[in-house]
Amino acid sequence: MEKIISLTKRRGFIFPNSEIYGGLANSFDYGPLGVELKNNIKKLWWKMFVTERDDIYGLDSAIIYNSRVWEASGHLKNFTDPLSDCKKCKARFRPDKLDNPKICPNCKGKLSKPRQFNTMLKTFLGPVENSANTNYLRPETAQGMFINFKNIIDAFYPNIPFGMAQIGKAFRNEITPGNFIFRTREFEQMEIEYFIQEKNWEQSFEYWLEQMKKWLKKIGISEKNIVFEEIINKDLAHYSKRTIDINYKFPFKTDELYGLAYRTDYDLKSHSKASNVNLEYRDKNTNEKFIPNVIEPTFGVDRTILAVLLESYHEEKVANERRTVLRIVPELAPIKIAVLPLIKKDASLIKLAKQIYSDLKTKTSVEYDENGTIGKRYRRHDEIGTPKCITIDFDSLKDNSVTVRDRDTMKQQRVSINSIEI
Ligand code: GAP
Repeated sequence: MEKIISLTKRRGFIFPNSEIYGGLANSFDYGPLGVELKNNIKKLWWKMFVTERDDIYGLDSAIIYNSRVWEASGHLKNFTDPLSDCKKCKARFRPDKLDNPKICPNCKGKLSKPRQFNTMLKTFLGPVENSANTNYLRPETAQGMFINFKNIIDAFYPNIPFGMAQIGKAFRNEITPGNFIFRTREFEQMEIEYFIQEKNWEQSFEYWLEQMKKWLKKIGISEKNIVFEEIINKDLAHYSKRTIDINYKFPFKTDELYGLAYRTDYDLKSHSKASNVNLEYRDKNTNEKFIPNVIEPTFGVDRTILAVLLESYHEEKVANERRTVLRIVPELAPIKIAVLPLIKKDASLIKLAKQIYSDLKTKTSVEYDENGTIGKRYRRHDEIGTPKCITIDFDSLKDNSVTVRDRDTMKQQRVSINSIEI
């Protein structure tokens, strides 16, 4: 983890938030390479689960909803974590996460009896801070989809089964955030609510588990680092009848990467009752009306980034040197191609390199880099996961060809400028 944290800061992927003011604990900003990686993950996810399918409708809802949403969804009452404080050192813990829930892991003092703490982040809308203006930043993107269910039905007349998908920020006042971007108070989710008939829930659950496995493969997460955990009844979220956590073997602990839940008709039924709006679906063939059940595959964006970085980070010995390489799948790599003139001082080399760079730039994400020795530039691009480096040398001026170096094999191939693959 230390190596990942250091690399991501040094190379401009992830910075500690508010650093010039001493930082804000457990809060991070994505730098130029981090934002590219994040966007590539979100783009690939959207492509696989929305654009390449006919049955999923995209959404980008607001972050703050009518506060009645949280009453109806059960979050006001149930979205809580147990909280204990140490009577000696005053530190706060989630006792359910401790080996001994009665003893402080820091000073061995006695922990207070747990009380329930609601982890929704509270705010006030408008200038008056009273209960009527109290509102919450959403703790999951899911509710934005449930409250738009009727809009999708009325605008698109979908056939069941169909789904909705949303990517966006979520906020939780976590008691014990930590482990870099693993648990933060502000994070991003990619979620699907897939609406089905109740009788099909088991089959749909299995189907979505397979889809999630396909996604993991696509982003280069190896099976050996994944642990599927069936959540036992007493630990299920208030809305769930069955949940499987897809855990990743993070260096600090094997812990949740993604989740798959059968939310039954809990949410739509609750919103229908609370809003007094009919949220039934009418089957076009049978005319039968019913409130659909829901299967929910949920993916954390930041935890995906952490898993992808951990998975792709490699150190190896090359000749007498150590090479650090991010073997990130090319689709996710922040920079796909680096264009490198062999030396900085030759005007014709620079001219040709810049020309190749401008041509490629319209097609993919490319970086032009002329600083330092060619070896140093290769090493930097290995470290940030650039799959290909193109070197322009003096022969290029004569034969219109360049050297393409592969990040993973370090093999170099001479190719014609016109046939550079992107
Ligand atoms: N709508 C269901 C839901 O929100 P969840 O398991 O509480 O379920 C879904 O959260 C995903 O969001 C998790 O699997 C994880 O990837 C991510 N996530 C949850 N809390 C997080 C936090 N504090 N920091 C970063 N990611 C978090």
